[in-house]
Amino acid sequence: MLIWSNTFETKLELVDLQHKNLFNLLNKLVNNLEMSGIRNEELEKAIKLLIHYTKTSFNDEELLMMESHVDKRHLTMHRMEHQSFLYDVDIMNDITSFEDRRITGKVIKLVRFITLWLTFHILRTDMVMAAQISHINLGMSPQQAYETVNSHKIESANVYNSTLAFLSHRRELIQQGIPVTAR
Ligand SMILES: [Fe+2]
Repeated sequence: MLIWSNTFETKLELVDLQHKNLFNLLNKLVNNLEMSGIRNEELEKAIKLLIHYTKTSFNDEELLMMESHVDKRHLTMHRMEHQSFLYDVDIMNDITSFEDRRITGKVIKLVRFITLWLTFHILRTDMVMAAQISHINLGMSPQQAYETVNSHKIESANVYNSTLAFLSHRRELIQQGIPVTAR
């Protein structure tokens, strides 16, 4: 169960609203999984809705960054994280054949992966984005905003690199058919 708190607030109205909705969808999915007798079709529907909503919120974030003229260095890395996540989720979702009787275990893994990834992404990357937008709105140039935020945040580039390394490692495991469990 994901509980919304101030920790997740970016102070960007649309972004926070979409993140809250994502939390709600994830929690509903977890509740469905805990219900006995849930039909595979219902689970499939809930997962599709969650993925669709995630894609929408990613698109909106990317639009917001472009409209706010966020530095390209951040925009490129942020986009890559979004794409990498969608790629992994698509693969995991394909692996989850809905005729498979062991579906629930696989769905639990998928939900854990989405939950972990989203919280990690919101707390690091989306917060870095929000800080830059806030500086730009106060009159800083996109480049200054990028550099200011990065000098305050622990070497954002390193965070990005380790995130990408982490994600690419998971992707390799998924491609090799090795179960990826969230820890
Ligand atoms: Fe994001």
